[in-house]
Amino acid sequence: MRHGETITIDDLDRDPFPHYARLRAEDPVAPVPAANCWFATRWSDVEQIARSPDFTAVSDEAPVNAAFGRPNVLTSEGSVHAALRGGIEPHYRPRQVAGYIEHLVRPIAEAQLAAFRASGSDDLLTGYFEPISALALARSFGFMEVDVPTLRRWFHGLSQGAINFERDPARDAICQAVVTEIEAVARPLLERLARAPDNSPLSHMLHSGMEAGQVRPVEMILPSVKITLLGGMQEPGHGAANLLVGLMQNPDQFAALRADIGLLPQAIDEALRWIAPIGTMMRTALRDTQVNGIPVPEGTPVSCIFASANRDETRWDNAEAFDILRPPKAHMAFGQGAHFCAGKWFAKAQIEVTMRVLIEAFPHLAFAEGPPDFRGWEFRAPTHCRIAL
Ligand code: HEM
Repeated sequence: MRHGETITIDDLDRDPFPHYARLRAEDPVAPVPAANCWFATRWSDVEQIARSPDFTAVSDEAPVNAAFGRPNVLTSEGSVHAALRGGIEPHYRPRQVAGYIEHLVRPIAEAQLAAFRASGSDDLLTGYFEPISALALARSFGFMEVDVPTLRRWFHGLSQGAINFERDPARDAICQAVVTEIEAVARPLLERLARAPDNSPLSHMLHSGMEAGQVRPVEMILPSVKITLLGGMQEPGHGAANLLVGLMQNPDQFAALRADIGLLPQAIDEALRWIAPIGTMMRTALRDTQVNGIPVPEGTPVSCIFASANRDETRWDNAEAFDILRPPKAHMAFGQGAHFCAGKWFAKAQIEVTMRVLIEAFPHLAFAEGPPDFRGWEFRAPTHCRIAL
């Protein structure tokens, strides 16, 4: 039996990396029936699929379609994709981000740190990283009033839909409850922005590229609003948490970073390479084709596993290890091709401010009870970041 046929969703949730390593070695483009798709696990194959005209992002199988609706920025192409992305992207370009990130994130991080200290909690994941990540995205995107518990409930609920490869009705119900809640907040806000535009990405999603007097229908942008809320609120916080765990598991590297905080940008990239917070991207074969000589039939949904490509031993020495001093090289944690992450610069700059505030506040950091487990394969993060207080 091929290894992919033996893999369960639970295996992947607990620790996908040994399975990815075996697939890379034995069966790099292979069916994984438990996930209702094939997996492509090598760097070169993921790269090829992302650029190939034989594959499309318009994938009927992607869980985000059922969870959030269509059209959405992730599973559209051409002019629809350009229109949906066009409202989001400009606010998150490197020059724009550099102009506002410190001013936006430092006050949020300092307030969260004060709240964390006052709370008596020892978990930096739920008390520091996730709230900063959720608030920074929500405020920058145009949701100015929604509070942290609601935002956290939103991205946890949305993620249940986005990872539902196995089409579990329980996951779907959790996601749909949150979707109803989000729409109840978003619709009146979007209606107001349709009448009175402002400079937020939400407003640009309605107005950008439209003729004077015309507004993009709310139904057309709501699915992409949910996708951006999910990725944008969840991933920077989880990326920061991955980095903290990597550093705490490797005290020499943490000491090197404290001695030279200029290493922070490359440490962030290494954490995202080591454990990609978003592990996969879905593509569908438009015709009978081949990847690396392996036949892939028309209509096959193929999950390109960024998390595996990021540990491809033909690209990195000692790829399984966390090493902030390894020579910098591009990784795939922000995706590949036309759907490359629209929030990459915002995410990296936000993590940098978040980590600086934390490191300045805590001259020593240690786990409360040993290192945490990680969970997930579509989205992967530590289960907690409990520190000794
Ligand atoms: C460390 C944090 C983040 C990581 C690791 C990450 C990762 C990714 C990845 C892998 C994709 C491609 C998914 C695919 O092709 O299926 C993606 C797309 C996207 N990301 Fe991020 N992301 C992060 C933060 C953000 C933030 C803060 C935003 C907010 C603006 C954002 C907005 C988006 C959007 C809108 C897309 C869809 C782009 C498109 O389809 O054209 N992401 N992200």
